Amino acid sequence: MITKGWLLPIALTMVLITEVSSQDCGQLLARLRQANKANLELLNSKMNSTIPQQCIEGVFSFSLKNKLPTNRDVSEEENAKVAIQEVLQQTGHIFRQNCTEMLWDEDSLRAFHAGLDQQSENLKSCLSASPRSRRIQLTSLRVKRYFRSLNDFLKEKEYNRCAWEIIQIQVKQCFLWIEKLIQEIQSKGMDAQIPAHI
Ligand SMILES: *[C@@H]1O[C@H](CO)[C@@H](O)[C@H](O)[C@H]1NC(C)=O
Ligand SMILES: *[C@@H]1O[C@H](CO)[C@@H](O)[C@H](O)[C@H]1NC(C)=O
Repeated sequence: MITKGWLLPIALTMVLITEVSSQDCGQLLARLRQANKANLELLNSKMNSTIPQQCIEGVFSFSLKNKLPTNRDVSEEENAKVAIQEVLQQTGHIFRQNCTEMLWDEDSLRAFHAGLDQQSENLKSCLSASPRSRRIQLTSLRVKRYFRSLNDFLKEKEYNRCAWEIIQIQVKQCFLWIEKLIQEIQSKGMDAQIPAHI
């Protein structure tokens, strides 16, 4: 079994690699996908493999009540990119809340933030400058609303351990969702310049 101590340096290295950014929007998705994997690994390395007994009920009731937009809601490329950018930015905000009960060390938290901020900025700089369609505005709103529910929940639970467990599970789902969205865009061949080796 690979221990958690092992994964961390790998995840950090990947975060650093992706920080070496050029404004090359053609390879944006490939880089984003790689960085998203690093985020996911870092998050996984910090999460307990089992949900603490006292948190289980909360996990289920939270997941039922609060949902991300579906893939169908964000089927166009620009729309998906806006959704991803919003998720990254909002995740950064949420991980700047009171984290004392979350049991992350400072270095990991800093690396996590750096990765999120960098990807969010890269993505933002590659988004179209033209006014957003209603559909895209709606996507952005839905993601914001979802994260507002995470924020409210944390606050309501006074940033306790279980609340953070639940938030981390949700954020993991978000990263998996990002992976799916990128895969979908790529499979439609809309990001044609991705080098084959990535
Ligand atoms: C996992 O849960 C156990 C028992 O609650 C706790 O002692 C341990 O610190 C947790 N590990 C992490 C990485 O949260
Ligand atoms: C952060 O959360 C912990 C645990 O709930 C609490 O004891 C502490 O007072 C909080 N700190 C701030 C600055 O809100």
